[in-house]
Amino acid sequence: MTPKLRRFLDEVRPSTPCLVVDLDVVEANYRALATALDGVEIFYAIKANPAPEILTRLVALGSSFDAASVPEIEQVLAAGAGPARISYGSTIKKEADIARAFELGVRLFAFDSEAELSKIARAAPGARVFCRILTNGEGADWPLSRKFGCTPKMAKDLLARAATLDVVPWGVSFHVGSQQKNPKAWDSALAEAASLFRELEAIGVELGMVNLGGGFPTPYRSDVPEIGAYAHEIMEAVRRHFGNRLPFLIAEPGRGLVGNAGVIQTEVVLIAEKGDADGRRWVYLDIGKFGGLAETMDEAIQYPIHSHRKGAPVPVILAGPTCDSADVLYERAPYTLPADLAIGDRLEIEATGAYTTTYSTVGFNGFEPLRSYYI
Ligand SMILES: Cc1ncc(COP(=O)(O)O)c(C=O)c1O
Repeated sequence: MTPKLRRFLDEVRPSTPCLVVDLDVVEANYRALATALDGVEIFYAIKANPAPEILTRLVALGSSFDAASVPEIEQVLAAGAGPARISYGSTIKKEADIARAFELGVRLFAFDSEAELSKIARAAPGARVFCRILTNGEGADWPLSRKFGCTPKMAKDLLARAATLDVVPWGVSFHVGSQQKNPKAWDSALAEAASLFRELEAIGVELGMVNLGGGFPTPYRSDVPEIGAYAHEIMEAVRRHFGNRLPFLIAEPGRGLVGNAGVIQTEVVLIAEKGDADGRRWVYLDIGKFGGLAETMDEAIQYPIHSHRKGAPVPVILAGPTCDSADVLYERAPYTLPADLAIGDRLEIEATGAYTTTYSTVGFNGFEPLRSYYI
């Protein structure tokens, strides 16, 4: 945790649960990524954390933006980004929303199916389009599965079809899975993208852009490779597969820009034992899966959790406060907390700047959405 976050929590003592984000960490992450991926245009994936303070800071730094919906487009326009810096990156859009984005000036759209391509051609004439290809998500803690993308063979047919419609076939995108811990994970998708460039060129369709997606990790309980290692592997792979005809490159980092910038402070509501053979204590917090920690689903994302107490570490099961049995954070993952932990203690859940505030429910069990501060 940065000294700025520590000072804020100690001096303000905000009521819990709450997220506090250090905007200077967001800025440092942006600068590190932009420097490492020199020449790659950064489109911040707004969905990771759409707070106006984050968007405004990134606009000032020269970032572009990946939006998943019209409200996200409106939020980033309100933060001062011009529409030329926005990509409508969802592959699942209502035609009316495509039309609205077009009206707002957006000219870059994703698709991965024939029907979506047709919608874009009707509602956003003349726009640039890129086709998302499937990846297997291997190596990622939060893989994005088969829901998005199509096979490279289908991408070829769709991009060729795009050339016959009133849109510009502009490139290929993919996402190697969120919290991707293998810097080499981009290699096979880049090989497929390069093949698509060549095959389409052979039939007279010239593509220009490769969208590297997101996937850049944030350190949680275990270390992750440095951003420089990702940049090195990606740029090597781009050169290997594209030779000296390098495409225009963009990336859509979300978690990697904001994850480690935030800390959630939570209060221990109850410590209980079950009298069963397991013997571990249950520690119930005032935040759970429905308060913003949805990425603990299947215990996929394992946040570091700290107490100020010094007692010997004892194994615990961590759960949220709602009357829903799915609201357990960690039961399989080995977590420990000090033996002298007490009801009413405050704990810090680190690296929670991404995918938390917007995941919290509007009032499940009567609990308020996650409060947040940007400092
Ligand atoms: C299209 C798209 N781009 C970028 C991202 C951001 O990914 P990450 O947070 O792993 O960087 C996502 C995440 O779901 C996405 O769907």
